[in-house]
Amino acid sequence: MTYREKWALITGASAGIGAVFAKALAARGANLVLVARREDRLRALADELRAAHAIDVRIIAADLAVDDAPDTVFARLKADGVDIDILVNNAGFGMPGVYTENDWQAHRDFIELMVTGYAHMTHLFLPGMLARGYGRIIHVSSVAGLVAGSSGHTLYGASKAFLVSFAQSLAAECDGKGVNVTALCPGFTYSEFHDVNDTRALVSALPKYMFMAPEPVVEGALDAVEKGHVVYVPGAWNKFVVWLMKALPRPWGAAIVRGQSKSFRRGD
Ligand SMILES: NC(=O)c1ccc[n+]([C@@H]2O[C@H](COP(=O)([O-])OP(=O)(O)OC[C@H]3O[C@@H](n4cnc5c(N)ncnc54)[C@H](OP(=O)(O)O)[C@@H]3O)[C@@H](O)[C@H]2O)c1
Repeated sequence: MTYREKWALITGASAGIGAVFAKALAARGANLVLVARREDRLRALADELRAAHAIDVRIIAADLAVDDAPDTVFARLKADGVDIDILVNNAGFGMPGVYTENDWQAHRDFIELMVTGYAHMTHLFLPGMLARGYGRIIHVSSVAGLVAGSSGHTLYGASKAFLVSFAQSLAAECDGKGVNVTALCPGFTYSEFHDVNDTRALVSALPKYMFMAPEPVVEGALDAVEKGHVVYVPGAWNKFVVWLMKALPRPWGAAIVRGQSKSFRRGD
């Protein structure tokens, strides 16, 4: 699959899954717009990918938890004459602890980044894709969006379930119009996610077979969006978990998630 002459925008491209999306799309020839807060990281990645793939790479340092940030990103690209063909909504983090442990500002910022931000970015870039008759949108959701809510990371599962449902609605609306929409639902993936939220020691106690490297997660997602798969769960273990949670009576699934998640999500 080649994306030469296409432009891809990746949020949260300074680390983890987003940086791997940038590398995979660059290897397929796409020009890139990399968005995150850490400009030094974006600059280093942009230099590396320009040199390796002879592509155009722009960086935009932005805090997407600020409500007008998507408008600013869109305006910059419009002024530069850059039309986005591939949108990877990926920026995110997790907030350990029970709901009342974190203040409202923290929850507000979380919703702004993980829910409103994804919806706003899509609202800005989808019309151009539809007008040109081509687009690819990937929302980075999670297995957490497909199973019962956990104790700790209270809004995380809800935000990821929102993305699954949002992708399904968008996919239905875009059917036959050249725009494919996929909710990528990874399970535990090696990245900086658990360092940022300080749960590395807790999740390190989990069995290694529960974890995936980000590269197969991203390769699978790019394949899924090309095939028009609306919900994509990478990896045999994650697929098994999702299957099991659907197969079990709902209260049983909820009880399992409740019991398990308390340990690694600081739900007590
Ligand atoms: N790792 C997992 O186990 C796992 C599992 C399922 C789903 N996911 C999802 O995968 C996505 C990527 O996470 P990751 O695992 O790659 O974590 P990561 O390595 O910590 O990367 C997170 C990225 O999001 C960016 N970001 C965070 N807050 C931001 C903000 N306010 N504005 C702009 N950018 C922001 C970070 O960049 P800056 O700090 O430079 O802004 C970074 O580039 C998230 O949506 C996460 O929920 C992860």
